[in-house]
Amino acid sequence: MDASSKNTAFAGSGASRTGLEVRLAARPEGRLPVPGDFEITEVAVPGPAPGQVVVRNLFMSLDPGMLMLIAGESGLPMPPYEVGEVMYGDAIGEVVASADPSLGEGDVVMHRLGWREYAVAQAGRFHRVDRDAYPTLSAYLGFGLVAYVGLTVAAELRPGDTVFVSSAAGATGGMAGQIARLKGAARVIGSAGSPAKVDYLTGRLGFDAAFDYHDGPVADRLREAAPEGIDVYFDNVGGEQLRAAIEVMNPHGRIAVCGVLGRQSTAGPGDGPGDLLAVLGKRLTIRGFTVGDHLDRAAEFGAQFRTWLREGAIVYDETVIDGLADAPQALLDLVNGAYVGKTVVRLGS
Ligand SMILES: NC(=O)c1ccc[n+]([C@@H]2O[C@H](COP(=O)([O-])OP(=O)(O)OC[C@H]3O[C@@H](n4cnc5c(N)ncnc54)[C@H](OP(=O)(O)O)[C@@H]3O)[C@@H](O)[C@H]2O)c1
Repeated sequence: MDASSKNTAFAGSGASRTGLEVRLAARPEGRLPVPGDFEITEVAVPGPAPGQVVVRNLFMSLDPGMLMLIAGESGLPMPPYEVGEVMYGDAIGEVVASADPSLGEGDVVMHRLGWREYAVAQAGRFHRVDRDAYPTLSAYLGFGLVAYVGLTVAAELRPGDTVFVSSAAGATGGMAGQIARLKGAARVIGSAGSPAKVDYLTGRLGFDAAFDYHDGPVADRLREAAPEGIDVYFDNVGGEQLRAAIEVMNPHGRIAVCGVLGRQSTAGPGDGPGDLLAVLGKRLTIRGFTVGDHLDRAAEFGAQFRTWLREGAIVYDETVIDGLADAPQALLDLVNGAYVGKTVVRLGS
C-alpha cells in the first residue's frame, strides 16, 4: 500500500477493516476498577500515512502495574492512562500495511500500543523482532528481563546466596526463582497464595521450598524454609512479606523492590518495611528498580533465555486469555491470583 492511502480506511483484503480498542471510561477513585470503567469500541482502521505502518496485534501483555495507570497514580516512570483515551501497554503484532521503508508487510514487531487490535503509528514506534527466536511469539512479552536485572543489578546476586521471591508463581516471580538458581543461588524459596501454587513452585519450577503466605506469620514460614537466613529478597509485594524478609535476612542482605502487588491488588495505601532498625543493624540494601532503565541488558538476557529454553533448563509458562473484550476482567483476575506464569491476551482470530 503506498503513501497516497493516507486516512482512508485500510483495505487489507478488499474490505474496509475495523478493530476493537479499549478506552478508560472512568477513573476509579480509591477502589479497584470494574468492567464498567472500560469502554470497548469498534473503530475503522485507517491506512498508513507517509512514515506510518499498520500493525495487526497478535498478543498483548497484562501487568498489574496497569492498575496504577488506571488509578492515575503519579510517581511512576510512565504516564497514567487518560480518561477517554485508548490505554497502552506492551504488545507484539504483524505489519499488515506499511508506508515507511524501514518495515514491510509480514514483519513482526514489538511496541507499546496494546489494548487495541490494530496499531497505526509512525514506524519508529515499532521494533522489529525475529519471528522464530522463541517457541511462541507471546514469549517476547515475558518478564524474564525484569527478573534478570532485578537479581543481577538491583540485588547483586552472588553464587551461594539464599534467595526468597514473593508472588513466585507469577510472571516475574517464576522467572526470578529459576534465574536465581541458574545464576548460582544455593537455595531458592518462594511464596504464593494457594496450596496449588506452592506445589507448582516446588514441583514444576524447581524451587527448593515454598509456602502459602496465608499460613500464619510469614516470618515464621520463611524461617522454617531458610533456617540459615536469606541473602536476597526479590520483592513483588511489599507489606508483611517485606518485613518478614528484613527480619530473616542475613547481614549485608539485599532487597530488590520490583513491585507493590499488595497495594495494586487492593487499591489501598502502600504497606512498607516498618521499623528500619534491622536495616541499619544488618547493613541491608533496599533498592527499587524499573526494567526500562536496563534495556541495554535485553540482548544479553535474550541470548541466555533462548539457550536455557533450548536446553530445557528453564520453564516458561503463560496463561492466554482469548480476545480483547475479556482483557479488562482478566486484568482484575490476574491480581486476584487466578493465573500462573505470564498472562497475555490473544487478539483477533
Ligand atoms: N520493576 C519493574 O520494572 C517491573 C516490571 C514489570 C512488572 N513489575 C511489577 O512486578 C510485580 C509482579 O508483576 P507480574 O506481572 O509478575 O505479576 P504476577 O505476579 O503475575 O501478578 C499476579 C499475582 O499477584 C499476587 N498477589 C496479588 N495480591 C497479592 C498480595 N496482597 N500479596 C501477595 N501476592 C499477591 C497473586 O498471586 P497469589 O495467588 O500468589 O497471591 C497474583 O497471581 C507487579 O507489581 C508489577 O507491577 C515491575
